[in-house]
Amino acid sequence: MKVLVIGGGGREHALVWKLAQSPRAARMWCAPGNAGIAAERLASNGSPVECVAIGAEDLPGLLAFAKGQGADLTVVGPDNPLGMGIVDLFQENGLRAWGPNRQAARFEASKSFSQEFMEKHGIPTARSGTFTESDQASRFAAALGGRCAVKADGLALGKGVLICRNMAQADDAIDAMLNRGEFGEAGRRVVIQELLEGMEVSLHALCDGHVARVFPTSQDHKRALDGDEGPNTGGMGTYSPAPFLDEAELVAVTQKIIEPWQRGCAADGIDFRGILYPGIMLTREGPKVLEFNARFGDPETQVYLPRLQSDLLELLDASARGALSDHQLEWSSQACVCVVMASEGYPGSYPKGRPIAGLEEAATLPNVKVFHAGTKSVDGVVVTSGGRVLGVTAWADDLAQARDLAYDAVKRIRFEGAQFRNDIAAKALQPGNRR
Ligand code: AMP
Ligand code: GLY
Repeated sequence: MKVLVIGGGGREHALVWKLAQSPRAARMWCAPGNAGIAAERLASNGSPVECVAIGAEDLPGLLAFAKGQGADLTVVGPDNPLGMGIVDLFQENGLRAWGPNRQAARFEASKSFSQEFMEKHGIPTARSGTFTESDQASRFAAALGGRCAVKADGLALGKGVLICRNMAQADDAIDAMLNRGEFGEAGRRVVIQELLEGMEVSLHALCDGHVARVFPTSQDHKRALDGDEGPNTGGMGTYSPAPFLDEAELVAVTQKIIEPWQRGCAADGIDFRGILYPGIMLTREGPKVLEFNARFGDPETQVYLPRLQSDLLELLDASARGALSDHQLEWSSQACVCVVMASEGYPGSYPKGRPIAGLEEAATLPNVKVFHAGTKSVDGVVVTSGGRVLGVTAWADDLAQARDLAYDAVKRIRFEGAQFRNDIAAKALQPGNRR
């Protein structure tokens, strides 16, 4: 098969790396890709993965490229092209793209849509309201004592959620979105949720319109600094499995969240083919959905795919064709840890173009894979080119060993101003946690 992957972050490097292992992959492109992706080769015939300079949101450019090359399957990584309807556009032009269509991508593209869906179909979530007027929004926040999450309704590159613990913060957040326009179009409507307390975990389910295959658990670390301090980021590190849900509890969560979601999709005529990624809070009253994403998590993908034993290309192809009932997902029992190395200043503004040393040395370690996120190659030197730069990933028989190995690799990699968290997976290793 000839495969085009869209995106150029750590998630897409992990996707390309795993897809390239498939015996069915005969040729692969990535648009726009990055320096790490450009260094991958296909297992079947040794040919390199070719990066092409087309942006992930340039839908006409991507369509023309896929058509011209006769791509058999286009795998869409990021949420924006999905929300823009890339899957529908490809279908209308006789091409197959993997990911939810525009209607199904609304689970991520519109928080108010998701919230109404969850309320309608009995999926446990936070108490919430949707507003376009700041006075009404403020009254709702006041009823919650100011303890709330104020969320831009639309896509805001993962930055559209403001956590408030008192009325002053809530009013400022509401004002920023609804009156000051600081979140653009995405923030012209807001969803306000009660603040949920508990442990947060990520779920992923691969869907084909009928069947949903649930992944093992993982946990992200959203805050920039150790101890969950500092601003929210796209994610500073992940590990899998997370010990806060055992097998039986994962089945229970699936019954409470994924199954009613599937029944709701069937009832409402939503044909969801792709990854459903609910962010879940394990509260004292049980698991509750914080939000739905409609794509692979980043950096969750970096810890899932090294554990996946099945052929990812087969699975995504089956998901797009509605044929997942013939496929099971096989997972290794090993644990996997990914530590993100980010640029100085991230998640705020950051410099680019800083040379990265030590990549070759890290690559010599067994059971380590350094996924590139924001990198590019300039005259043969790999330099930083994004906020999140690398996802240093390692796997081993248990979580403690996987974490030690990941940090051993991190120590060997250097670039000026590199920042990373020192406590990825630490919560899972505290005494008293299972596994
Ligand atoms: P979201 O993009 O909706 O997942 O929100 C980003 C982050 O904000 C989540 O990963 C949580 O850590 C936090 N968050 C969102 N909604 C809530 C909520 N209702 N209660 C507590 N924390 C939340
Ligand atoms: N890991 C956070 C995200 O992908 O949204």
